[in-house]
Amino acid sequence: MSTPQTYRKLQAIAIGSDFRNVTKVTEHSFDELIKSLGPKNILVKNIHLGINASDVNYTNAKYTPGIVPPFDVGFEGIGSVVAVGSEVTNQKVGNFVVYTLFGSFSEYVQVPAETAIPVPAPNPEFVALQTAGITSSLALTFSGRMTTNETVLVTAAAGGAGQIAVQLAKLAGNHVIGTCSSDEKVAMLKGMGCDRVINYKKEDFAQVLKKEYPRGMDIVIECVGGEFFQTCLNNLAVCGRLVVLGSVSSYTGEGGLAGDNVNTLQLLAGSKTVCGFYLPAYFPHVPAHMMNMYKLMAEGTLKVHVEDKGYVGLEQIADAVEYLHSGKSMGKIVVTLPEDNKSKI
Ligand SMILES: NC(=O)c1ccc[n+]([C@@H]2O[C@H](COP(=O)([O-])OP(=O)(O)OC[C@H]3O[C@@H](n4cnc5c(N)ncnc54)[C@H](OP(=O)(O)O)[C@@H]3O)[C@@H](O)[C@H]2O)c1
Repeated sequence: MSTPQTYRKLQAIAIGSDFRNVTKVTEHSFDELIKSLGPKNILVKNIHLGINASDVNYTNAKYTPGIVPPFDVGFEGIGSVVAVGSEVTNQKVGNFVVYTLFGSFSEYVQVPAETAIPVPAPNPEFVALQTAGITSSLALTFSGRMTTNETVLVTAAAGGAGQIAVQLAKLAGNHVIGTCSSDEKVAMLKGMGCDRVINYKKEDFAQVLKKEYPRGMDIVIECVGGEFFQTCLNNLAVCGRLVVLGSVSSYTGEGGLAGDNVNTLQLLAGSKTVCGFYLPAYFPHVPAHMMNMYKLMAEGTLKVHVEDKGYVGLEQIADAVEYLHSGKSMGKIVVTLPEDNKSKI
């Protein structure tokens, strides 16, 4: 490869959930990056970066309390391997890899070789299966204890994580309900096999559940929080499992990332469960679930929707994050880095 003198990355320069105002593109020595390449690491030149609802929680230090700016941000990416550490045997220069790593929003990143997954092409669909997709797969299995012939509700169903939860629950033979906020999203979810889509801007979410599903939900994959969480809890079936994936409605509000209260008596009488899910606790199970999703995607059984908004360059990451939090995004949002890695300023 032609060696650049410098490379650029996006860093948090202050703590807060206003992603645009607390982040900045900074320039660094490429020579130092190469010299610091760990023996078990590979150097990846990023092609697509995945945007996640929680990017704003990370800049707001919610996952790493006490972290001091400046620090690197971003959770995942896909790119080509441009250098390998002295002890790396399972990767080679020229491979395309997808990976999860705090600090991915950079033109180049060092990634532990054993965590980078080789992929045949740098397609953004692979990025969509990283944080968001794998979370849905693991949460349904371990926290939702998914079987078959049950009723599964997914909130923010047309989002990055939701689209995968809906389809995996359907593929397992369940009746699947999804919530979303527009007719376009309704059409997308119906196309993905969702049995009942509730556009909560047009229909009363709580009333629909009460009227059409009096027995309640067996599994809920809950992404929104606040009123959504309470409605889901109020409509949990006997032995139902409500899995808290996140509370996206709170992330950009004052204070950010807020939880919800549970009255334990609401659980006791119905043998109900409310549990949290956080991906890092399940890392050992990632490879098997990832391989399953790759297989389903290759067969065409699992559709992965990546919304093409044409975001290019590190400077447009803030636009992409704000778009995700506008409530309009459908499926996964990615930002593409230009081939010459000179993002526009
Ligand atoms: N625990 C973990 O390890 C883990 C890992 C990954 C993701 N997650 C969580 O999974 C959820 C989805 O994440 P994602 O990255 O895939 O994002 P996403 O679902 O693509 O987020 C965007 C969607 O969230 C909904 N939304 C946004 N603001 C909202 C609001 N104020 N009220 C109601 N809905 C709102 C909107 O869809 P509607 O049309 O439905 O309103 C929007 O399109 C998040 O809660 C995230 O934190 C958790």
